[in-house]
Amino acid sequence: MQPNIAVVGSGLIGRAWAIVFARAGFPVRLYDIDSGALDYARDRIAEALGDLARYGLIEDSDVILGRIRTVSDLAEALDDVAYVQECAPETVDAKRSVFAELDRAAADDVILASSSSGIVASDFIGHLQHPERCLIAHPVNPPYLIPLVELCPAPVTDPSVTERARSLLLEAGQVPVMVRGELRGFILNRIQGAVLNESLRLYEDGYVTVADIDDTLRHGLGLRWSFMGPFETIDLNAPGGLKEYADRYGPLYEALSHEQADPRPWSRETIERLHAERRSALPEKELEQRQSWRDKRLMALIAHKTAAAKDSGS
Ligand code: NAI
Repeated sequence: MQPNIAVVGSGLIGRAWAIVFARAGFPVRLYDIDSGALDYARDRIAEALGDLARYGLIEDSDVILGRIRTVSDLAEALDDVAYVQECAPETVDAKRSVFAELDRAAADDVILASSSSGIVASDFIGHLQHPERCLIAHPVNPPYLIPLVELCPAPVTDPSVTERARSLLLEAGQVPVMVRGELRGFILNRIQGAVLNESLRLYEDGYVTVADIDDTLRHGLGLRWSFMGPFETIDLNAPGGLKEYADRYGPLYEALSHEQADPRPWSRETIERLHAERRSALPEKELEQRQSWRDKRLMALIAHKTAAAKDSGS
């Protein structure tokens, strides 16, 4: 029998986590400080489960939905749970106050995992009675379609807590990776940050349009990145593998790293221009529809990857 899970915060990420755990058979209590948000979350979850069923990625959406209970009382949400996935807003103050409540209300051995995108746990758990049961479990949106979870314990986190969180997330069907040392932005957002900062710089300096940057990823790098990482990519891009690639192209990348080294603010003016270009390509009222389109493209990709993995046995 799977242990109970509490998901705290029912916004974009909280409701997606509820699907992850319920799909894997865990009974889920979904809590939000704003009880009105829970009805909205339930509708969005039902919609996402319907799409997953249409793409053949789940069998019975009603059974999965039946495992998710929306709860407007925190003590009730935390009663007899093994693991809490916190999904409150991304500010140190919000994380500090939610973790204080969770630490007070949850039994001492319950794991408290934060979905924080970049704030490290030590910034918001120092005042708790049991900080050793806290860590970061940073997902990628939406976690029921993108399985990576970054686990980043604080120095004070008990290693057995990290190990228990890792096994539970594996059982939930996710792919946990370890961040070895507390690091702002963890791994994924540091890499995403490097891509975003460089894209912004190239756009600001007039070298490329918004559409062409997006095409460079969509029709270029991104095609490979959906099934292999940068090190495997370069290992396959020179006859003798990674070492020969480094001999041929290492000096170029080193020269580029000097040109990319000066920090630059995200200037208001550049962001206004970028935003205007995006809004003329996609009016604001169509954002939600396009998010749903993105999720369906991801579902089709996952269905393809699952079939391809079965064919090739990898
Ligand atoms: P959101 O704004 O959609 O949802 C936050 C929810 O938390 C709201 O429903 C709000 O009512 C609730 N809340 C606020 N204070 C609370 C409290 N004290 N107790 C319980 N619930 C409370 O935010 P989103 O996007 O879901 O982000 C949540 C966390 O997940 C953040 O730390 C964010 O950085 C992280 N994250 C977000 C990703 C994204 O793409 N949106 C991706 C990965 C992580």
